[in-house]
Amino acid sequence: MAARNDALATVKQWVAEATNVVVLTGAGISAESGVPTFRGWTPDDGDDAPLWSKFRPEELATPEAFAQDPTMVWEWYDWRRGLIAGTQPNAGHAALVDLERRVDRFALVTQNVDGHHTLAGSRNVLHLHGDIWLLRCVDCGREIEDRRHPLPELPPTCSDCGGLLRPGVVWFGEGLPVDILERSFLLAAECDLMLVVGTSAVVYPAAGVALQAIEAGVTVIEVNPETTPLSAHMTACLTGPAGVVLPELLAP
Ligand code: OAD
Repeated sequence: MAARNDALATVKQWVAEATNVVVLTGAGISAESGVPTFRGWTPDDGDDAPLWSKFRPEELATPEAFAQDPTMVWEWYDWRRGLIAGTQPNAGHAALVDLERRVDRFALVTQNVDGHHTLAGSRNVLHLHGDIWLLRCVDCGREIEDRRHPLPELPPTCSDCGGLLRPGVVWFGEGLPVDILERSFLLAAECDLMLVVGTSAVVYPAAGVALQAIEAGVTVIEVNPETTPLSAHMTACLTGPAGVVLPELLAP
């Protein structure tokens, strides 16, 4: 515990001196809100369990799964949308809102699609993997925000052209939005402090944003209860849940 407190005091000083901060977040920051992490999920073998629950998220969040069974994939997203809607941003999200107010330049790059950073009040948020509240037509490309849950019709269809609507998120095997990715890499290389919070750092190119900062010699701090493949390359690791560590770290 002493080591953790020493590290915390040192990192607090770095944060106080930083003027250009980038934060990279993953599912772990929403874990304490009650949103399950991707890799914390185990398939349900029960007889009454819905069909989607027999698959891992990595099998459902793919263009192939959607092409094969759009209704099943939508049932999973509809369940997740309802689950997220029943949760609130936590003290970790709130601490990052305060940090944004304190530093000259700030960007929050997130892999999360739950929208909790924006809901908490963060302003400069770059969504690498999209937004679960957006629906996009696979035929005409029209994008709409629809926060209803459950959705009245599954799979939902486009009111303009009748095409199938898909969740406005990035799936495995798809490219990330190029402009957002390029901006994230640029910000990572230019910042003087990066916090990497609640991500397993195994999914690329998102994890590459942290790697970019490490390679550019930026001070990079990991906040995670577990170690990740990038932990050994971090300037410091603060071990613990984001909802506890971030408020401690970012208290003025
Ligand atoms: P993962 O589920 O892979 O990892 C969650 C991380 O959060 C793990 O490293 C946990 O140790 C950590 N964690 C758990 N509880 C925490 C807490 N209370 N505070 C801080 N950290 C905690 O989620 P991501 O890294 O976000 O992509 O996954 C990356 C991407 O893979 C996702 O955006 C998604 C997924 O498949 C797509 O959908 C394209």
